[in-house]
Amino acid sequence: MKNELILILDFGGQYNQLIARRVRECNVYSEVVPYNITIEKIKEKNPKGIIFTGGPASVYGEDAPKCEEGIFDLGIPVLGICYGMQLMTHNLKGIVARANKREYGTTDIKIDNTSPLFQGFDEDNKFLMSHTDFVEKVPNGFKNIGHTDSCPNAAIENAERKLYGIQFHPEVNNSINGTQVIKNFLFNICNCSGDWQITSFVEDSIRNLKEKIGDKKALCALSGGVDSSVAAVLLSKAIGKNLTCIFVDHGLLRKNEGDEVEEIFTKNYDLNFIRVNAKDRFLSKLAGVTDPEKKRKIIGEEFIRVFEEEAKKIGTVDFLVQGTIYPDVIESGLGKSSVIKSHHNVGGLPDYVDFKEIVEPLRDLFKDEVRKTGLELGIPENLVYRQPFPGPGLAIRIIGDITDDKLTILKDADSIFREEIANASLHKSINQYFAVLTNLKSVGVMGDERTYDYTIALRAVETTDFMTGVWSKIPYEILEKVSSRIVNEVSHVNRVVYDITSKPPATIEWE
Ligand code: XMP
Repeated sequence: MKNELILILDFGGQYNQLIARRVRECNVYSEVVPYNITIEKIKEKNPKGIIFTGGPASVYGEDAPKCEEGIFDLGIPVLGICYGMQLMTHNLKGIVARANKREYGTTDIKIDNTSPLFQGFDEDNKFLMSHTDFVEKVPNGFKNIGHTDSCPNAAIENAERKLYGIQFHPEVNNSINGTQVIKNFLFNICNCSGDWQITSFVEDSIRNLKEKIGDKKALCALSGGVDSSVAAVLLSKAIGKNLTCIFVDHGLLRKNEGDEVEEIFTKNYDLNFIRVNAKDRFLSKLAGVTDPEKKRKIIGEEFIRVFEEEAKKIGTVDFLVQGTIYPDVIESGLGKSSVIKSHHNVGGLPDYVDFKEIVEPLRDLFKDEVRKTGLELGIPENLVYRQPFPGPGLAIRIIGDITDDKLTILKDADSIFREEIANASLHKSINQYFAVLTNLKSVGVMGDERTYDYTIALRAVETTDFMTGVWSKIPYEILEKVSSRIVNEVSHVNRVVYDITSKPPATIEWE
């Protein structure tokens, strides 16, 4: 059975992913597609409804993104948000005017709650507005269903053709009950039934993968992270022993982590698991390297070399499995912001592996949906909720050059920190926390002895998107316990400091 689908046409607004998420939160599957998708393609996808996102352009701009005009004649309900509303108006011969002042912020909007779009709403509402242009005259057949003090047409409808426009952004949290507007569109106007669930995603995927791969062979680079683990398990449920997972252990994982990954995958799943212990190889390549970007590059390249060597031993495979997830797909279509750190994700595409096709079973899922899929597949909670861990691992948490001794110090200190955070039940409220081995040595005193040893820095941040974050206000007693345990239990550390910088201006990692 094919899922109900809502198509989201991307006009370049900053909240587009959020719209897709909101729709999925209502148990309706949604996809973000480029604004210029063809009518044929839309027909093929057969959506129950279409949402036009906002965007920075003006419909009068030379390079204004335009959809195919016939879209409004398909008989498919359309909800235009912000620029999307203006474009619909412009196309259907209403008038979009240019205001000389931008309206921005949570704004009082009076709506007509007899419209199915606003069913259940009070007349007075607060939604986020962010626009300069506005709809001055609605197209023929449309009527006004909302206004603010300065915007005459904040919401419009053509009930007969099921075309709706809203000047505000229902998808953001600042719009109170904004999700209800989306729900009303989905259920009152598009007649969705809301039966999309992770369980059905898992069942459908396994069936589709079985059909697609049959008894051919697939290869997967497993990093131990959430995405590649979930992708691997999904594949193993579909094709069992025809899947081979190569786990390149670069020795830069956290304490015991390599063994944990091996245990989970060899004990619980029916697949071929190859662990390559490549620590010495990585450490010799990294010897004496202090520049963080060089470290990342070396690790990224070496990872691929090791993976390729193993893959060659297996010979030609039909499919290479990638743990790509939806935000990777969407973000890669947009313009790039300036590179602050080149994020190397272990599992990047190797050049010389002999495969015929790529499979990306998680390509349509957001991170939280990947986690739900993981749980549904029976992957242990500690792996599914694992905090993010950078591909280059502890190499970018040892400031300066990397040696085996330093790695041991950092692994031990980090493990104590993680243990105490878990003991204090803070592991769910702090989104990322770890120890850093600084290359600072300082004087201390232990017993009667003078020491001259390393300083460990503790880092803990609270964030939802990892783009910005605040340092976590861990209670002093817990910091005290962690500090005292690290200094007492880890040789060559005589000082512990806590990083109290937020992001920005600092980044989460130290390198
Ligand atoms: P920063 O340090 O840039 O980190 O604030 C943001 C998030 O990205 C992770 N990170 C990386 N992840 N490869 C990765 O796969 C990398 O090279 C890398 N560098 C940083 C970091 O752990 C945090 O979650």
